[in-house]
Amino acid sequence: MSSVEVSKVSSFSLTTNEIAPDKSISHRSAMFSMLADGTSEITNFLRAEDTLNSLEIVKNLGAKVEDDGVTIKISSDGIKEPFEILDCGNSGTGMRLFCGLLSSANGHFVLTGDKYLRSRPMKRVTSPLREIGAIFDGRDDANLAPLSIRGSSLKAFDYNSKIASAQVKSCMILAALRADGVCTYSEPELSRDHTERMLKGMGADLHVDGLKTTIKPMKKLLSPLTIRVPADPSSAFFFAVAAAITLDSNITLEGVTLNPTRIEAFKALQRMGADITYEETDNRYEPIGNIHVKYAPLKAITVEDNISWLIDELPALSIAMACAEGVSVVKNAEELRVKESDRISTVVDGLNACGVTTTEYEDGYTVTGGELKKATVDSDGDHRIAMSFIIAGLRCGMNVTDLDCINTSFPNFFELLQKITKVEFK
Ligand code: S3P
Repeated sequence: MSSVEVSKVSSFSLTTNEIAPDKSISHRSAMFSMLADGTSEITNFLRAEDTLNSLEIVKNLGAKVEDDGVTIKISSDGIKEPFEILDCGNSGTGMRLFCGLLSSANGHFVLTGDKYLRSRPMKRVTSPLREIGAIFDGRDDANLAPLSIRGSSLKAFDYNSKIASAQVKSCMILAALRADGVCTYSEPELSRDHTERMLKGMGADLHVDGLKTTIKPMKKLLSPLTIRVPADPSSAFFFAVAAAITLDSNITLEGVTLNPTRIEAFKALQRMGADITYEETDNRYEPIGNIHVKYAPLKAITVEDNISWLIDELPALSIAMACAEGVSVVKNAEELRVKESDRISTVVDGLNACGVTTTEYEDGYTVTGGELKKATVDSDGDHRIAMSFIIAGLRCGMNVTDLDCINTSFPNFFELLQKITKVEFK
């Protein structure tokens, strides 16, 4: 499947429980099960390329994985030196969290990924890990994968991160669990906090005070996880934008995590004028519930705070900006440049191709709202770019090329989209 043409739609109404399960929580469920002293049970695990790669790695590290197609049961009696190279595919989360988990394990480990992942910066984790005694090597002095790790003993640390990154934070928390004393980790803004919530739920001695997390090393193995992975707000957000930009449309997105560090993009869309309500139905590790989104005329917005809370949704939010009245501004978002693609360039280039006026800055961009034109946009191998411009097509029709990447996070995306509009593969 290399390209798709989506048709303009006049209006739609949909209730769905088929949004892909959360990617961040699925990765963590597989990895954290290796720290438990019994069998973890995971349902609604995201069966997409990124997270299945993490599951495969966990198997290669010696865990017993039983999967009946509904529940995945994982048990482990310690991380074993693998026979295989560990392939994280396209996933930065996979690679960075495994760096933390493996840096103190007994043995030699090689982490690699696809050509996109092998170009993404890893020093943000290998540097602080090296400072506490981890042994890493890799291209550009362990900045670029393949990375090799020789597990070693780690010293306690007080680390002040300059970036708000849940991947770096989670990596260091995993390292801290096996360090030789109490560790602290501070970040400039709170990044997504699934790691803290899940590990605490498993009994880890971890205390969060604002932007600072204190972690005591594990004295014994943790309790197993029992989790049903909620729907992924980042995947749900494509369909929220679809409803928000299509006249007389509405959607109900069921069973989504309502973790405040994950739904900031919905809040931004609400500030733009969309009619959005939240209904909490459950709370397990984090609040979970339904999100209702209704069309309303949109106005421009400036997005500059808590960027890490909506970093993955900015490409889709930019489509809403292109349909809003006025000039929207995105600032303080330099992290976008080191995602699955340089998302400042890919968003700006895509919007320009659709006839939208933009200005590009090192840390963001502006989008002048108006009418979008049908165009051909290439995803540059980035799932979120592909899905964002496909959603833009609901407004004006669109051709999008290079679509395999969608399988990294949302394999049933087109099935769901076909409930709204005509989709033609070429
Ligand atoms: C993720 C954290 C975010 C996000 C990524 C998933 C995670 O990255 O962009 O898609 O699961 O921890 P950073 O923590 O690097 O900002």
